[in-house]
Amino acid sequence: MYDFQTFVNRREQGSIKWEIAKRVYRGDSERLVALSIADMDFLMPPAIVEAVRDAADRLVYGYTMPTQAYYDAVISWMSRRHSWQIEQSWIAVSPGIVAAINYAILAFTNQGDGIIVQMPVYRPFHASVADHQRKIINNALVRNGKRYEIDFDNLESCAALPDTKMLILCNPHNPIGRVWTYSDLEKIAAICTRHNVMVVSDEIHCDIVFKPNVHTSYGHLPRELRQNSIVCTSPSKTFNMCGLQVSNNIIENSGIRERFKKTANNCGFHGLNCFAGVAGIAAYNESEDWLDEFLQVIEDNHKMVSDFTTKQLPKLEVFPLEATYLQWLNFAAFSFSTFDRERLLHENGIFFESGHIFGEGGETFERLNLAYPKTVLNAVMNRLAEIM
Ligand SMILES: Cc1ncc(COP(=O)(O)O)c(C=O)c1O
Repeated sequence: MYDFQTFVNRREQGSIKWEIAKRVYRGDSERLVALSIADMDFLMPPAIVEAVRDAADRLVYGYTMPTQAYYDAVISWMSRRHSWQIEQSWIAVSPGIVAAINYAILAFTNQGDGIIVQMPVYRPFHASVADHQRKIINNALVRNGKRYEIDFDNLESCAALPDTKMLILCNPHNPIGRVWTYSDLEKIAAICTRHNVMVVSDEIHCDIVFKPNVHTSYGHLPRELRQNSIVCTSPSKTFNMCGLQVSNNIIENSGIRERFKKTANNCGFHGLNCFAGVAGIAAYNESEDWLDEFLQVIEDNHKMVSDFTTKQLPKLEVFPLEATYLQWLNFAAFSFSTFDRERLLHENGIFFESGHIFGEGGETFERLNLAYPKTVLNAVMNRLAEIM
């Protein structure tokens, strides 16, 4: 049994989530709860702490690259947890998935090219496209009640545009918590293959999936459909080691892989953070039981939030959670305005991730991070019920 009920106070740890909240918040600091960015305020998996502590004593903090043990750990994890047999040569590491997406944009598209994203979606997807002067082509997700679907007809139209070169896919999809099915992926791949559109499949949340849902990787597709793709995976969300900045981008096509690696290199990425390698090994080889308990904790937290709102806040729409520890909440029935958001924060210390940052369709939503001890979430929900 691991401890998921101790609240790790990260207010003074330089945590981005807490620092941003502190800068905008004007109230009593003890009341502030930062529930925004996707990392956890739980104790770390012990094997990772031990590995980093040991490395701190033993290693020289010089340039580091993935070791054989690191590759073996990644390959074994993909096989054990995802029934995906990958080869060592397919793995291209990067200092995170946002970096990988940026390398892919630079390597495989030109200024003015179109890149498809499916909003509402993780902000760096569309921000990176715009920052590199590429065109954002939004294939907006379609909402049927509390379930989002992909609009395949519109996807075909987007992919058929002459300038469209890439689709950045989020699977599982942050912030709406969906796991795309094999059939969804087959349709996406058929469309993108027909129109020669590369797929960058961000699968950072692939280990945080709740039964009976299962993650299907883009890499599970038949060879002819997966050839023009990059699959981005990482131990960072799964094991709360985002600050160590590592991702494993799985690229079977050697031409794409070499160009990706060259761009990463040109952008100054020469190897792994020297603690990321040992932490990744400890995560994949020794922390699986921690993950299984974590998944149960998140399911319980989701249920607690759903049950609470049914009773106390029936107008608040809590979306089903197939994957991720990020709860999508619709405040539309409250005519939730910017002013109300300010009130939520400044008078009540509740700092969610505002839905509008995820682009079109996120305007009436807030995203709640569920990776907190129950006592913290309970207190937040009670406070919310008092003020709404
Ligand atoms: C879908 C998605 N991709 C990427 C990231 C960040 O990845 P990294 O820290 O590896 O750049 C996040 C973080 O929340 C995310 O939700």
